[in-house]
Amino acid sequence: MPIIDSIDDAISLLQRGELVALPTETVYGLGGDASSPLAIRQIYATKGRPAGHPVIVHLPDSGDYRQWGAPADHADALISAFWPGPLTLILRRQAGVPDEVTGGRDTVGIRMPDHPLTQAVLRGFGGGIAAPSANRFGRVSPTTAAHVHDEFGPALHVLDGGPCAHGIESTIVDLTGSQPALLRLGSIDRKSIEAITGPLGTSATVAPGTLKSHYAPMTALLLSSDPESDRARIESTGRTVAILKASDPLDHARTLYAELRRLDTLGVDILIAERAADEGLGAAINDRLTRAAHEFSTD
Ligand code: TXA
Ligand code: MG
Repeated sequence: MPIIDSIDDAISLLQRGELVALPTETVYGLGGDASSPLAIRQIYATKGRPAGHPVIVHLPDSGDYRQWGAPADHADALISAFWPGPLTLILRRQAGVPDEVTGGRDTVGIRMPDHPLTQAVLRGFGGGIAAPSANRFGRVSPTTAAHVHDEFGPALHVLDGGPCAHGIESTIVDLTGSQPALLRLGSIDRKSIEAITGPLGTSATVAPGTLKSHYAPMTALLLSSDPESDRARIESTGRTVAILKASDPLDHARTLYAELRRLDTLGVDILIAERAADEGLGAAINDRLTRAAHEFSTD
């Protein structure tokens, strides 16, 4: 059963064009050689992701970014402040970046992850590794090797790097417009980015992973500011409920997806997630919960 612990095995699998799920500080990624259209197509097929969704390229070293993306205002300052770490930059693509990586766009998303095992894999591999979150399309992202295993079964190789330290995906900043824009809230909050870039706009580009419905458990999920009164109302209609309470934002983000997965196995009718305080990391948590809850109404 291929949960693996050898960095060398991960490197040789990737060199042979195979996929390996890799730990990062945010969530596990489904990794493949970013210079290989075949490997990227395999990522799409495995996830069940529609074509035209770009994937993030993970880099071994911040100095390598110009091989993938063109320099842009604020790029170097953001990179020196936040890499390695949970910040993805959208830049104009360089010639030679496969269309499969960019989803046919003229931009590319890049980041340098902050996880020692995956950094060692990247250094040994010596190139970019494309890695979307290692979950089936639209589902909850994995934060342990066992979650990846639950998503894809035992055939997929997973490098076990323990539970992810941050637990929600990277912040995405688009530097290709006239003003830097926040494309996805994430582990690094808006204020920390704006301290470097000045005010962030909203991008004209919709990152496909920011579709309204995403990150969803199988059980219907209600995002609530008052979980106990929602519980009483729903239980009075004969339906069963489990509650995910908000907690300290760092802990809450770190355990959010594992908790959604656990609650999803309880067999209740409805999950109620308490809305987090809507600032800093709490805003990113609420963003994910809103998308997870999107299809659902209690009426
Ligand atoms: O923390 C993360 O970012 C994790 C770990 C594995 O690195 N990766 C991740 O990948 O969340 P994924 O594919 O699940 O989400 C990446 C998001 C998608 O919404 C995708 O559309 C967007 O990044 N993206 C990637 N390249 C883009 C581009 N060139 N233009 C616009 N959006 C882009
Ligand atoms: Mg994802």
